Amino acid sequence: MRFAKRLDLVPPYLFAELERKIEEKRREGVDVISLGIGDPDLPTPEPVIRALGEAVADPTTHHYPSNRGLEPFRSAIAAFYEERFGVAVEPSTEVMPVLGGKEGVAHIAFACLDPGDVALAPEPGYPPYTSGPLFAGAEVHYLPLLAENEFMPDLNAVAANVAERANLLFLNYPNNPTGAVVAPGFFDRAVEFARVHDLIVVHDSAYSEIVFDGYEAPSFLATRGAKDVGVEIFSLSKGWNMTGWRVGWVAGNAGVVEEFRRLKTNLDSGMFDALQLAGTAALTESRSFPAEMSAAYRRRRDLMIEALARIGLPADPPQATPYIWVRVPDGHTSETFTELVLEEAGVVVSPGPSFGPSGEGYVRISLTVADERLAEAASRIATSLRVEAGA
Ligand SMILES: Cc1ncc(COP(=O)(O)O)c(C=O)c1O
Repeated sequence: MRFAKRLDLVPPYLFAELERKIEEKRREGVDVISLGIGDPDLPTPEPVIRALGEAVADPTTHHYPSNRGLEPFRSAIAAFYEERFGVAVEPSTEVMPVLGGKEGVAHIAFACLDPGDVALAPEPGYPPYTSGPLFAGAEVHYLPLLAENEFMPDLNAVAANVAERANLLFLNYPNNPTGAVVAPGFFDRAVEFARVHDLIVVHDSAYSEIVFDGYEAPSFLATRGAKDVGVEIFSLSKGWNMTGWRVGWVAGNAGVVEEFRRLKTNLDSGMFDALQLAGTAALTESRSFPAEMSAAYRRRRDLMIEALARIGLPADPPQATPYIWVRVPDGHTSETFTELVLEEAGVVVSPGPSFGPSGEGYVRISLTVADERLAEAASRIATSLRVEAGA
């Protein structure tokens, strides 16, 4: 059999590779603690589960859905945007469900890019910012996120001939994997950049509800002029512990939403109506749930930051996201450190370069495991470093 060459354009999907390693270790009998994947360990809120049960029992939900989405879901999204971000979106033309943020991010590239076009993508970054454009036949130009720039891309550094060919700019704040939050004024600069170069901004807002210490993550759409140049992709996965449900949406520029819908009518048949009704319950009955999750992640963040400081791995406490972006100890690369903690401590962390070359020298620690397991992981990492140092 012969398969499409496009599948070889991207490396094996990072988390598929991590899952394989975890499986292998578990088969060897190792009690693996995985801090590799950002999959919340706690359950979906009760009202959402109840709403799904009720909706599934209603046969009117059993038909093909529409790609436009159910009116109650779209209206709940619009009300949430108004109340949470102070942003008005028109439910009938500026909102559409996506089957999780990943589907939204990867497939929107097919609606925005032609072969020969360029997508500007932050790196380190979420892998679909690369795979979506490449599968669509476009090129990816990376925008490095560096500590000295507070993990914001330097838009002025994009060469004129690249900017000219670019038709899509991905942004993501709060950011995975660095945990950075958007610097004041950056979204305004992005809108201006998009205007000047006539390109579409897709802001990935997967983590806006996991926030700490009083920080409130803004919507990109709250920026003046944002709706003229782009959209935001939002997901219920992280804030509401719904990674398995695949519920998200795209909101913003009506033209982008409409063209993306036109694409999607050819690819999928929309989101199961019962899931849309459950998503509606998340936004109404469980509106304050992400604040509870944020409190749990803040506690774990503090526990881990303190433990890391004790073992000589100081890291900045993130103001958002369930991730800590940690510099590896002197003498290590991301890969050797990842290998050390896996082999000697049975702890899985994500090596920085798997999110892009500027991730070298870092690993990402995910806080999506119980407090006791996090503490246990930190203590095992400490032991592995002592053993390595010959202490
Ligand atoms: C930056 C970013 N965007 C989007 C997603 C997609 O989440 P989902 O497809 O579960 O909505 C993730 C998941 O890890 C992510 O890290």
